[in-house]
Amino acid sequence: MAYRWKNTFTDKDVTPETAYLNRRQLMGGAAGLGLAAMAGPAMAQDETLEPNSWDDITSYNNFYEFGTGKDDPARNAHALTTDPWTVKIDGLVDRPGDYAFEDIMAQMTVEERLYRFRCVEAWSMVVPWNGFELADLLELAGVQSGAKYVAFETLYRPEEMWGQKYPVLEWPYVEGLRLDEAMHPLTIMATGIYGRDIPNQNGAPLRLVVPWKYGYKSIKSVVRISLTEEEPPTSWNRAIPGEYGFYSNVNPEVDHPRWSQASERRIGGGLFAKKIPTLMFNGYEEEVAPLYEGMDLRKFS
Ligand code: MTE
Repeated sequence: MAYRWKNTFTDKDVTPETAYLNRRQLMGGAAGLGLAAMAGPAMAQDETLEPNSWDDITSYNNFYEFGTGKDDPARNAHALTTDPWTVKIDGLVDRPGDYAFEDIMAQMTVEERLYRFRCVEAWSMVVPWNGFELADLLELAGVQSGAKYVAFETLYRPEEMWGQKYPVLEWPYVEGLRLDEAMHPLTIMATGIYGRDIPNQNGAPLRLVVPWKYGYKSIKSVVRISLTEEEPPTSWNRAIPGEYGFYSNVNPEVDHPRWSQASERRIGGGLFAKKIPTLMFNGYEEEVAPLYEGMDLRKFS
């Protein structure tokens, strides 16, 4: 990829957690070296991007396959077997197939990215993800010219993901992006947090992160990526179409039908922490607004 992050790593960013760099995060050619990059250009000056603690990030989760409570995933997700793991890449690609996770890691440059992650329920965190650009993975499979969208699917394994025994959502969990959103350098497949393997409750061994969209677009524990011509279904749109659209860009000007989206509560700030104003595209406006030029973002919400 032509677009690479500047190394804006400063002493302030070095947390004790950064010391944990393990096998899966260090695999691959230039992978280990790539870990130096920390924050993107727009984010470097942003004082609000103080990373949340490992405990915040790994104990307050949404992963309905393991229960609907925020603390359910941390309690239950250990049941998931993540090794071996394969990702099927199919549809409009030159090299469809089952890609072993370790083989993918061997080809990718893993970098550390500090991203704001905002949930639709108006809470947010800042997470130092380790991951690689989705674009690089798609290039590995060779995207064909007719492809317009990318569809994602989570593992379906009810014997390990007990939540799948209940019809809270239609299983497996699915998501989708337009191809240009998927190819944007901010869009990553995350494989770690603070340099450690991503914990099961956060979507091991690899999950999507689209930092300018609501958290629910960031599908966890991905086993299938399909390039399609048609707009793919998304789990939350299927479940509650009146509340969740395909795009789901963070947009403080568009209220959720049941609540305002103008401000957010930073997790870790304590019970009485002041809400902070939510930024358009979650603070990544400069980078991603051009993707939506000419679109009515109230209609395509
Ligand atoms: N992916 C799957 N497979 N299942 C889920 O329930 N929840 C989504 C998203 N990805 C979800 C999922 C929602 S609603 C959010 S807010 C984020 O994951 C939460 O990610 P986090 O727990 O790492 O903060």
